[in-house]
Amino acid sequence: MDAIQLLKDDHKAVKALLGELARTTTRAVKRRATLLREIHLNLHAHTRIEEEIFYPAYREAGDKEQVKLYYEALEEHRAAGDLVLPGLLQTDPSSEQFSGRAKVLKELVEHHVEEEEQQMFKQARSLLDKETLRELGERMTQRKQEVIEGWKAAKAE
Ligand SMILES: [Fe+2]
Ligand SMILES: [Fe+2]
Repeated sequence: MDAIQLLKDDHKAVKALLGELARTTTRAVKRRATLLREIHLNLHAHTRIEEEIFYPAYREAGDKEQVKLYYEALEEHRAAGDLVLPGLLQTDPSSEQFSGRAKVLKELVEHHVEEEEQQMFKQARSLLDKETLRELGERMTQRKQEVIEGWKAAKAE
């Protein structure tokens, strides 16, 4: 599996879930909770494989420009993952505050994904050869599975 294809597939899936969440109303309490759980797991697994495997490889293959984008991307993960998402998880799904927070999370993720795909991934395609991208993809597929299993095991406790 090509690393960039894997990450793009993840983006597509999470964008669809966020779009669905944004279209729900304050009456769809159960649906909102289910979607949010899925989004949480998806974002968690995706940012883990990016931060542990893809971003470091990108940064090491590049120069100053890549270091800059690396830190910008990390900061966007932090804004979504440590601020907006935890806030949303603590918000009553029957409230308009939930609607507002869900919309902001969607916009943050869309902006971040756009920058990754238009800048970082395009640069990575020229900085890293096919074989390296394939090998990174293998490692990320495996790691993602581990992260998801660990998450599910922790939830089942
Ligand atoms: Fe990212
Ligand atoms: Fe990403």
